[in-house]
Amino acid sequence: MVRTGDIVVKDLIKVYKTGLSEVIALRGLDCTIKGGEVLAIMGPSGCGKTTLLNIIGGLDRPTAGSVKLDGVNIVNVDASGLVKHRRERVGIVFQFFNLVPTLTASENIELPMMLAGKKRDYIKSRTSELLKLVSMEARADHKPDEMSGGEQQRVGLAVALANDPPILLADEPTGELDTATGRQILALFKKLRDEYGKTVVIVTHDQRIGQIADTVMTIVDGRITSSVPGAEFAAKVIAASPATPGQ
Ligand SMILES: Nc1ncnc2c1ncn2[C@@H]1O[C@H](COP(=O)(O)OP(=O)(O)OP(=O)(O)O)[C@@H](O)[C@H]1O
Ligand SMILES: [Mg+2]
Repeated sequence: MVRTGDIVVKDLIKVYKTGLSEVIALRGLDCTIKGGEVLAIMGPSGCGKTTLLNIIGGLDRPTAGSVKLDGVNIVNVDASGLVKHRRERVGIVFQFFNLVPTLTASENIELPMMLAGKKRDYIKSRTSELLKLVSMEARADHKPDEMSGGEQQRVGLAVALANDPPILLADEPTGELDTATGRQILALFKKLRDEYGKTVVIVTHDQRIGQIADTVMTIVDGRITSSVPGAEFAAKVIAASPATPGQ
């Protein structure tokens, strides 16, 4: 039985062609992301993490293979189907807070709902709800350059959630943030799974991810090389870290 938000990736291949040269970014990658879970994806620079996320998010197409969401292969859908997928099924959070610089926090959150043709009253109430969720009510009228990095990332998360997608994809969402702020963002992802049943896929180098992830997968050279429960990953990180002074 396929639950809402299940993502089944089979034999995914992505070859980038630039001039005469070719880069094989994904080499037959297989994985299943269970609906309602937090999956962390780790791996060295250039191993294919962003490529995988972009394909799942409908921002790019693979060279071969399939990505099934609730049983539907998004690789086969036409351009308008892919737009619908991006608008309704997935929310995407990027490393560099992808906000429109000339719009306020509220206006940025309203934008995807306006594009989806939602009614004005609904947009207003949903925007207030989302500002509250990410604790940004007090900065509703601030533009991105009047917010800290962590605040911008929280608004970016609200933008990604605007149309209530079942799946949230995040590409190094804490990469630009300090430790404490990164922790707040991770806590928000945990809340989205626990209280809203979202499926969350996070690409990260943050070793603390094991504390919230159900599964931690590692990609090396375009393929999954390991997949361990988050708790097991967290225990290994603790075992490998030097003892805290005074303990
Ligand atoms: N548009 C593109 N054209 C050509 N090659 C590309 C393109 N995008 C990515 N690549 C190549 O594909 C490979 C995988 O890139 P990808 O961005 O998925 O890596 P990544 O795991 O996200 O790395 P990082 O941790 O540095 O973000 C790399 O070798 C990269 O150079
Ligand atoms: Mg990347």
